[in-house]
Amino acid sequence: TERTLSIIKPDATKRNLTGKINAKFEDAGLRIVAQKRIQLTQDQAGQFYAVHKERPFFGELTEFMASGPVVVQVLEGEGAIAKNREVMGATNPADAAPGTIRAEFAESVGENSVHGSDAPETAKEEISFFFSGLELVG
Ligand code: GTP
Ligand code: MG
Repeated sequence: TERTLSIIKPDATKRNLTGKINAKFEDAGLRIVAQKRIQLTQDQAGQFYAVHKERPFFGELTEFMASGPVVVQVLEGEGAIAKNREVMGATNPADAAPGTIRAEFAESVGENSVHGSDAPETAKEEISFFFSGLELVG
């Protein structure tokens, strides 16, 4: 089985959507093996999204990610990385398939409710950004 890092973003925690989003993950066969609710500083958000630091939306993205609580979580399952991204839907909710989290809940391309790792190497890095080995209970 595989693990991926998921973040429920501030637009979603603000609207009390954590449970509804988690139900989508669980219904898709993903197991939530670690989870915590935290608030990032803009600097920490910038470290997490460092790969995007040259993009024009970097300031907006890091400000948004620090604007309220986030729920960071580790999802586990067969093909968890791809499955999670399928359940999330396209980055822009206007392009997201019906039934996906972003189609149902996202407000815009920036405030799009969830993050999911995009490859095995980034999943590993992103999980250890937020969680120690002791916090991961399969
Ligand atoms: P993540 O799972 O959050 O990494 O989303 P993604 O992999 O679907 O998209 P990508 O990695 O390309 O972009 C990372 C995040 O930057 C997106 O989820 C958005 O929150 C934000 N983002 C991407 N494009 C734009 C944009 O044009 N404007 C703004 N404000 N934010 C954007
Ligand atoms: Mg991404």
